Amino acid sequence: MASMISRFLVIISYVLLRFLNDVHGGVTSNFIRSEFPSVDILLDNEVFAIPNGYNAPQQVHITQGDYDGKGVIIMWVTPVEPGSNQVRYGTSEKNYDFTAEGTVKNYTFYNYTSGYMHECLVNDLEYDTKYFYEIGEGDSARSFWFQTPPKIDPNASYKFGIIGDLGQTYNSLSTFEHYIESGAQTVLHVGDLSYADRYKYHDMGVRWDSYGRFVEKSAAYQPWLWTVGNHEIEYEPYMDEVVPFKQYLYRYSTPYAASGSTSPLWYAVRRASAHIIVLSSYSPYVKYTPQYKWLEAEFKKVDRKKTPWLIVIMHSPIYNSNNAHYMEGESMRVVFESWFVQYKVDVVFAGHVHAYERSYRISNIHYNVTGGAMYPVPDKSAPVYITVGDGGNQEGLASRFNYPQPNYSAFREASYGHSTLEIMNKTHALYHWNRNDDGKKVATDSFVLHNQYWNKSLRGRKLKKNYVHAVVPTLELNKV
Ligand SMILES: *[C@@H]1O[C@H](CO)[C@@H](O)[C@H](O)[C@H]1NC(C)=O
Ligand SMILES: *[C@@H]1O[C@H](CO)[C@@H](O)[C@H](O)[C@H]1NC(C)=O
Ligand SMILES: *[C@@H]1O[C@H](CO)[C@@H](O)[C@H](O)[C@H]1NC(C)=O
Ligand SMILES: *[C@@H]1O[C@H](CO)[C@@H](O)[C@H](O)[C@H]1NC(C)=O
Ligand SMILES: *[C@@H]1O[C@H](CO)[C@@H](O)[C@H](O)[C@H]1NC(C)=O
Ligand SMILES: *[C@@H]1O[C@H](CO)[C@@H](O)[C@H](O)[C@H]1NC(C)=O
Ligand SMILES: *[C@@H]1O[C@H](CO)[C@@H](O)[C@H](O)[C@H]1NC(C)=O
Repeated sequence: MASMISRFLVIISYVLLRFLNDVHGGVTSNFIRSEFPSVDILLDNEVFAIPNGYNAPQQVHITQGDYDGKGVIIMWVTPVEPGSNQVRYGTSEKNYDFTAEGTVKNYTFYNYTSGYMHECLVNDLEYDTKYFYEIGEGDSARSFWFQTPPKIDPNASYKFGIIGDLGQTYNSLSTFEHYIESGAQTVLHVGDLSYADRYKYHDMGVRWDSYGRFVEKSAAYQPWLWTVGNHEIEYEPYMDEVVPFKQYLYRYSTPYAASGSTSPLWYAVRRASAHIIVLSSYSPYVKYTPQYKWLEAEFKKVDRKKTPWLIVIMHSPIYNSNNAHYMEGESMRVVFESWFVQYKVDVVFAGHVHAYERSYRISNIHYNVTGGAMYPVPDKSAPVYITVGDGGNQEGLASRFNYPQPNYSAFREASYGHSTLEIMNKTHALYHWNRNDDGKKVATDSFVLHNQYWNKSLRGRKLKKNYVHAVVPTLELNKV
């Protein structure tokens, strides 16, 4: 580890020197990946396999179930009949000392009828403990496990993965497999899950089901924190299905009430040393709306002495220099950016754009529509904005970036991949974006993220510039 850090430092100082004299944007990677077909994997593929046994539970996934990480929501689907709502669990394998009872629902969507959607909250768990759990009945019972996070502790280390716009193609599979290899403990999913809305009628529900089976290999064993994207809206008047997020809400519950939210679409959790705020790009957020008022109150609850790391996730990026979805996040930026700066958010993750991009620490809160400065400027209190909407869905890559690269953009590349954020302690986190490169993952954009709150040098003296220290492949540096 020490040698890794010192290697970072050498490259960091080299990169920093370059950036100090450079008013242009950062790096546009010229990596061209070999093309996979961007089509969904066929339903009979083993990645969507239906588990054996009559009415066997499928599409098993868990998420955090409370504010501080002692609760887990377990969800699954039984295809034929409701069956049991019970979760049996305990700290040793096949020896379940506890039971919890959940609820079941079903729904129709045009001519699709869902299976039975089970949801069970398992609460008051011990921190930092491996739990085994079993669901289903008789020969069809299935068992899984998960590890609870350490207690809320400013020094706790923890590794998050960040995945966006995943879908269910071969590119999605590559991202998913690389993510599993990464050893991260919790997924922050920045929206656009199944892309079932690329289908019509009955097939939409079918593709929500196949997606649930696709991600089970990870999502049954560690929490995925879900954010809504535009593909979850499913406003389909031609089928008379006009209630936004209907299928998503039946299938993916969130612990929203624990953070005082009144909607499952926006909420916050605390996990180890991180406070994570999940926003909805597709619900009202302007002043006076429920999401706005909730966020105003939630930021006041953040205690950096307990959770040094403040992370915000949303679907539509606030800073994006790609042709795709350009400026779609602008309205949210106008409403929320000043809070991100005021509360010194460490990093904002978004998806939506099917490419990777990272910003410097910049803000545009001085912007005044009736005149004056309009450029984002370096801002040491601002978050780093990272777009990682490159999970690999069937819409393909967003390869047309705007030129010249704006000076707020540090690094961008149109390839599929995922990110990890490994919190080391209250001051340092290691960040990686891992490109899917034909069968292996390649750490392509990496840096040490310094905590925004616990950085005395930032609080004490004024730095001329406060760029994030980029570690990019040396072959790319010549292109700056
Ligand atoms: C839900 O399941 C019950 C019991 O099988 C069935 O009677 C009902 O019609 C279903 N509801 C919907 C909305 O499909
Ligand atoms: C659902 O409706 C569509 C359009 O009306 C039709 O083509 C399809 O066969 C129906 N599927 C089922 C399973 O009922
Ligand atoms: C965290 O670590 C620091 C430095 O090692 C130590 O001074 C502090 O007491 C620790 N805090 C907690 C809550 O463990
Ligand atoms: C915005 O700009 C106008 C025109 O320059 C100025 O009168 C106004 O005070 C500015 N508003 C703010 C909030 O800075
Ligand atoms: C980008 O360039 C503009 C115009 O030169 C300047 O005002 C602004 O501060 C620069 N922003 C950053 C983030 O360097
Ligand atoms: C935090 O982690 C970084 C990177 O591993 C290390 O250099 C630093 O000394 C650690 N700080 C404390 C207080 O342990
Ligand atoms: C504070 O941030 C600066 C610039 O990001 C970095 O060089 C420095 O090491 C950080 N200090 C701490 C204590 O993390």
